[in-house]
Amino acid sequence: MKKIVHINEKIKSFNKKIYVPGDKSLSIRWILMASQAVGTSIAYNLLESEDALSALNAIKKLGINYKINKNNCKIYGKGLNGFNFKNNTIINAGNSGTLARLIFGLLVKSKNQIILKGDKSLSKRDFSRVIKPMRMFGQIIKTKNQKLPIKIKGNNYPRPINYNEKKGSAQIKSCILFAAMKTPGKTTIRSVPSRDHTEKLFKYLKLPINISKEKKIDLISYKGIKNYKGFNYIIPGDISSSAFFIVLAVLTKKSKILIKNVNVNKSRTGIIDILKMMRAKITLKNKKKYNGEDIADIFVKSSSNLKSINCPIKMNSRSIDEFLLIFLVCATANGISKFNKINELRHKETDRLKFANNFLNNIGIKTKITNDSIKIYGNPNLKLNKTYKVEKFDKDHRACMLSFIAALTLGGKWVIHDTDSINTSFPNFISLLKNLGAKIN
Ligand code: S3P
Repeated sequence: MKKIVHINEKIKSFNKKIYVPGDKSLSIRWILMASQAVGTSIAYNLLESEDALSALNAIKKLGINYKINKNNCKIYGKGLNGFNFKNNTIINAGNSGTLARLIFGLLVKSKNQIILKGDKSLSKRDFSRVIKPMRMFGQIIKTKNQKLPIKIKGNNYPRPINYNEKKGSAQIKSCILFAAMKTPGKTTIRSVPSRDHTEKLFKYLKLPINISKEKKIDLISYKGIKNYKGFNYIIPGDISSSAFFIVLAVLTKKSKILIKNVNVNKSRTGIIDILKMMRAKITLKNKKKYNGEDIADIFVKSSSNLKSINCPIKMNSRSIDEFLLIFLVCATANGISKFNKINELRHKETDRLKFANNFLNNIGIKTKITNDSIKIYGNPNLKLNKTYKVEKFDKDHRACMLSFIAALTLGGKWVIHDTDSINTSFPNFISLLKNLGAKIN
């Protein structure tokens, strides 16, 4: 794929049906969970992006075999104690924060040491969030500054923990649940709500998880240890990938799109609720349940008269990966949009709050930003006619794809760098855009 892309014209109206690739969170979870199962697991529609491949390479390094076939992927699990690897084996998580954080949990009992590495962007990210609970389990972790590379060694006798998860981070919660699977006794997490795919997978596999609510907090407990058999899974489409096409359709006149078979788990659909509050025309069709997850087709029509939003804080975790796109819609809406308590955006593949602020200012949108909030002064008459260069984004796949959507909906001439970053989560993004008629060189 060419690394620098030029877009010189808006996309023309379209009316299409598309499929997006398998959900990234579910794909990585399936790979890691299948690596712990007894016997063969098969996944269909597994995401074949760099992050998912990093997860497959990681389990391979830990002694678990897999095979990618034309229509499926097979993993040959050996149970909860099935890892087998030499001391100081290196695992490279690439760009994937989810893989890097979740794998700590699976290594809670490992006899040998792992050296966990990542790419430049992942090596800048904070790991204290998983180091803290994992040390409570008894894991031995060597780190200079709470950042990768990190040396991880397990403990033969891990202790169950009680943990307060205050960030609303599914990565922290899932890391703890993975460790709990291998730890005797009862682990409890008091968690600010976040995506709950791990819990749903545990329930589907009939593992001893218990979930209740106490006001706005999720109380999750797990009483280890239970082996489970290999399991098959059809991974639904990724809402975070769909989001680029939702916003493309919202902002392109006389257009319609039907995105088929997408995971619409409530903990992920913040973007749909927020855009609907802004008057976007989005409907869910053909809703069904699959192994505890909600699936639907998402139908979107171009929407005019968009209005600003004062975003409720409870939406934050439900839209955590979609804020860049939501901010773009706010840029074209009538009025001032406000987002609070979104500091977590500063801890993604790039500092997304800083990136968004620069990006919006660059296209002539006034903003006010603090450490954890942003106000966006929308301009419904926004029309771009200059040249815009997008190059400083730490190769953040979502920042890169956002630039494509801005270019195709707002006009102007765009030069977008490091487009190979898109392979992290959505390898056929550009070809899908071209199928809708986008001119991309
Ligand atoms: C993810 C959780 C989120 C999200 C990330 C994927 C997951 O991160 O941003 O892209 O699959 O658990 P946090 O848990 O840090 O919020």
